[in-house]
Amino acid sequence: MVAADCSIVVDTLRATTTIAALFARGVTDVLVASEIGLARQLAAEREALLLGEVGGLPPEGFALGNSPVEVMGSESMSRCAVLFTTNGTRALCEMASRGVTFAGALVNASAVAGAAARFEHVRLVCAGESGGRRFALEDFAVAAAIARQLAAGSDSVQLDDAALIAHDADDGQLLRWIREASHAQALRDLGLVADITFASEPDRLACAPCVAEFGDGWARLIDVAGS
Ligand code: MLT
Repeated sequence: MVAADCSIVVDTLRATTTIAALFARGVTDVLVASEIGLARQLAAEREALLLGEVGGLPPEGFALGNSPVEVMGSESMSRCAVLFTTNGTRALCEMASRGVTFAGALVNASAVAGAAARFEHVRLVCAGESGGRRFALEDFAVAAAIARQLAAGSDSVQLDDAALIAHDADDGQLLRWIREASHAQALRDLGLVADITFASEPDRLACAPCVAEFGDGWARLIDVAGS
């Protein structure tokens, strides 16, 4: 297997979509944490906005949930935010230690594919569920959309087997996969259907979040779109 030059971590519902929303709201630094205690500590040290979820809902003391809709609608926003989620932020922390790492979603698929296009070997990482041990259909759908963007940018792109299946799905299929995924159903059960709608809109945001710095159990992302 060829070593990757960069990774794009996808957690469509909802961590990487929420990260894109934070940059769209003018946040300059998004710290992701792999443990809730560390997230609380990082937010306190930086006087940052603390947001995230456990079981889909904001834990006690968190200002916002892991919700792109809440982020877009929030009256106040700080320059720095700290996000903790069950799978997405852990996947980002894990990949950060392995090299250049982007956070991708359908809402910023083109911007992230554009930023990753300068790398020869791109790895698409689906955050999945159960700490990455369970396949998540919505992440596969968005990895497909990004793979398609990458392939469209060059006539010499080679796709591996999973990327080939993903790449061949049409737009309608991708949106059906997102809506019909079991995690989408779980969010609907929590009354969070607006987040699914938000996450299903391709390219509504133009940011390309990329890890700029990382440590034990955390990573700091900045927007590198256009740089
Ligand atoms: C996760 O990291 O597992 C998700 O983003 C969960 C969620 O929907 O909030």
